[in-house]
Formats: sequence, structure tokens, C-alpha cells
Amino acid sequence: MTATPTILVFDSGLGGLTVHREVARARPDARYIYAADDAFFPYGKQDEGKLVVRVTAVMDELVATHRPDLVVIACNTASTLVLPQLRERFALPFVGTVPAIKPACAASRSRLVTVLGTEATVKREYTHALIRDFADGCAINLVGSPRLAELAEAVLHGEEVSDADIGREIAPCFVEAHGGRTDTVVLACTHYPLLIERLRRLAAWPVSYLDPAPAIARRAAELLVPAFGAPGPTAQSAVTTLVFTSGRAPSPVLTAALASYGISQTAPAGV
Ligand code: DGL
Repeated sequence: MTATPTILVFDSGLGGLTVHREVARARPDARYIYAADDAFFPYGKQDEGKLVVRVTAVMDELVATHRPDLVVIACNTASTLVLPQLRERFALPFVGTVPAIKPACAASRSRLVTVLGTEATVKREYTHALIRDFADGCAINLVGSPRLAELAEAVLHGEEVSDADIGREIAPCFVEAHGGRTDTVVLACTHYPLLIERLRRLAAWPVSYLDPAPAIARRAAELLVPAFGAPGPTAQSAVTTLVFTSGRAPSPVLTAALASYGISQTAPAGV
């Protein structure tokens, strides 16, 4: 047991930053590794079998190199596919990110809820099981977005992304039926909260966008208490080690974006 936990936050790209920020708020004393498997991005377009093999292999290396005390899979596309295998393979707590269908349905007044994720996430049996178990009588509109994760990634890299491009991806989220309309949209891809201001501005009408990051952070913090206690009131966040599987160094634009998500002291490292 060490006094300071080491937390590995993993995503296919930069979407996990929205989760890392919340986890770092909940556990500011931890050491962090933020690992983006950008060499294999986007996960939403990968064949399931290949993705299982890939995530397992990358995780083998990350765990061996960085020895985390807890891993957050900050990616719905990976969590809904490989979480059970990862939990079986490693003697470590894994916190996954899966579509927040239960809280969305509990909060919806119109009972019309949209789940917006990658095309892969909305097809997964895991997602369909969550709907069967927790939709609680709500009508669920599943929207698989082919491009939104890539557009979010482009924005963080400083590229111009038009409102029309984003609007096209989210248009199917807004449904009117039986005199009611969608009031809750589950952000079932960690890249989407990166665009939250534009998602609000481009919505066909005001909806509540549900970002699971705070709940994930609470769960991660809770799991660390038995071994590490609670963080002290003056706890400071340590250096975040950044890992990009592509091996690229962050550009100045990306460095500024990382700082806006609370990653300002970084120690780049290979997998
Ligand atoms: N951030 C990932 C998620 O939460 C998906 C992005 C991708 O397609 O790689 O699903």
C-alpha cells in the first residue's frame, strides 16, 4: 500500500479528459496517467474482435509500466465491450463508463430519452441490456453518431469545425411524439462533453444533457478510500503523465486545451 494512489485514465483519444477532470477534483492527491490510444482512434469504427485484442494488449503494457492502483476506462465504446475481460485479467479495480440510462430515465419528465453514442456503443448488447433493465417505461431513442467524436477531437486540436457539421450529428436526438418531446440526452461518449457549449447552442430545443463524469469520479474516489483513506483538505494534484500511443508530442494548441482540462504539469511517456 502506498500513501498516494496512482490512477490510470484511459480513452481512445481526448474524450477521457472530461472524466479525468472530475476524478482529479474528487481525488486531488493522486498521481495520474492519462493514456490515449490515439493510434487506434476512433474506437467506434473498429471491429469488435480487433478492439478487444487491442485494448487488452495496450492495458497489459500500461499496467506493467505505470502500476496503477485503479483504472478508469473513460470510454463507452471500450467499456461496453471489454470491461468484463479487463476485470477478469487484472487484479485491480476498473471503473467503466457506460451509458447513463438509469439516471436519465429517472430524471426525464417527458419520458422521451435519447442515448447519443458512437455507432458501436448504441449497437452493443451491453447498452441494450441497460435499456431492458433501466428504461423504466421511457421511450429510448438510440442515436449512433458516425462523426461527433472525431469532430470533438478536431476542435481540441484547433481545427475549424462548423456548426452545420455538429448540428447534423445531433439532429436525430430531438424527437416529438405523443404530444411530448425529448427532454434528456445521455452523452454516451466521453468526447461529447468536450463540445457541451455547442451542443447546447445547437439543440433543436433545450434539453438536459447527461454527462456521467461526476458519477464516475464519485465511484473511483469511493473505491480508493479503504486502501488510501480520504484525501486531505489541502491535497494537491501531482503531475499527470501523458501517454499517446501514436507517440506524438502535444502541439501548442493541444497543450493549451489540456491545461483547460486541468492537465498543466505533464510528463510525456511511451506506453
Ligand atoms: N470516447 C469514446 C467513447 O466514450 C469513443 C470515441 C471513439 O470512437 O474512439 O465512446
